[in-house]
Amino acid sequence: MIDPVGSKELKPRFVYDSERHHALMREAETLPAVTISSQAAGNAVMMGGGYFSPFSGYMNVADAVSVAEGMRTTDGRFFPVPVMCLVPDVSAIGNAKRIALRDPNMDGEPVLAVMDVEAIEEVSDEQMALMTAKVYGTQDTEHPGVAAFNGQGRMAISGSIEVLHFSYFQDDFPDTFRTAVEIRNEIAERGWKRVVAFQTRNPMHLAHEELCHMAMERLECDGLVIHMLLGKLKKGDIPAPVRDAAIRKMVELYFPPNSAMVTGYGFDMLYAGPREAVLHAYFRQNMGATHFIVGRDHAGVGDYYGAFDAQTIFDEVPDDALDIEIFKADHTAYSKKLNKVVMMREAPDHSKEDFVLLSGTKVREMLGQGIAPPPEFSRPEVAQILMDYYQSIK
Ligand code: ADX
Repeated sequence: MIDPVGSKELKPRFVYDSERHHALMREAETLPAVTISSQAAGNAVMMGGGYFSPFSGYMNVADAVSVAEGMRTTDGRFFPVPVMCLVPDVSAIGNAKRIALRDPNMDGEPVLAVMDVEAIEEVSDEQMALMTAKVYGTQDTEHPGVAAFNGQGRMAISGSIEVLHFSYFQDDFPDTFRTAVEIRNEIAERGWKRVVAFQTRNPMHLAHEELCHMAMERLECDGLVIHMLLGKLKKGDIPAPVRDAAIRKMVELYFPPNSAMVTGYGFDMLYAGPREAVLHAYFRQNMGATHFIVGRDHAGVGDYYGAFDAQTIFDEVPDDALDIEIFKADHTAYSKKLNKVVMMREAPDHSKEDFVLLSGTKVREMLGQGIAPPPEFSRPEVAQILMDYYQSIK
């Protein structure tokens, strides 16, 4: 099986030992507590599950800036984006060296993790601007990821964490939320050797489904892991439970038995395009995937990134950083000439009119009016689930 990034063993930060877990929960009650941001909570959940292994905690400002600039910490460890705990106010901490981190996304703000405080630093305007520009490629506050990153506060708390809870993901998505540890174990149990992972934050239409089939065939994979984002999205994106139901229906009806796992991870969408694609590859290696699909406008939003920037960025990833291989897919769509979904670059004699192309806005409009997109665009059973959702929010 493929090794995790940077070590032979995965290093999840969740406290699996029940005695130690119990002791830490008790200790947390006595510690100064800080309610962290949703993004910082997502970082904790990812570190808990081993996805960001071997990183054990939040970066200090020097490391965060260094990672933003060149995808390496000050001591040379590879990571694609800053992993920070930014809060507006640290007055509750005082001189404490251990603190409890509370979850902003659950009622009662339960303890998510206990942290060994390494440093508390104020991030300057220049540092914030530099990190934003490098990671998101823009400082436009209309960009949902830029707005979220900059809306957290300016005090950076760094240090290693021990994670005690997987936030709302385990309760809300018991069949879908999986840690990197669990996915690795399941891949091993299934005996899969070559495994391709598919990132998604959308329901899967025919082009997505066929993209996965193509990747599996061409890479000669034993299995596919559909790995959907379960955290926060921008307004207008389809909520995770609806997406989950649509994807499960598609897999049930259109994938051979035991060829695809439907799973998800607890993290808010960054919309950081290319940088997020590298992060995605990083944590798919940690969950045991040997290959990762990056298609058109991966993790993009609006017109901030070129359609294939999230593929070319891998040219900047040093050879020794990641072992996972990227399946770089072209724009995929149904060809009316060939009566099947193809990659556009593989159909050179086609003009635009030869493809069934519908914009996201158009599809949403149709679904909202109870009109199913054509079967060349979406499986009818998937369209039905989406129509039900759009009608329910009218
Ligand atoms: S993402 O933000 O999670 O990347 P989405 O769920 O839409 O968004 O895409 C999942 C993956 O499918 C990404 O790798 C994306 O590049 C790819 N993809 C989506 N639609 C197409 C398409 N029509 N052609 C090629 N790749 C696509």
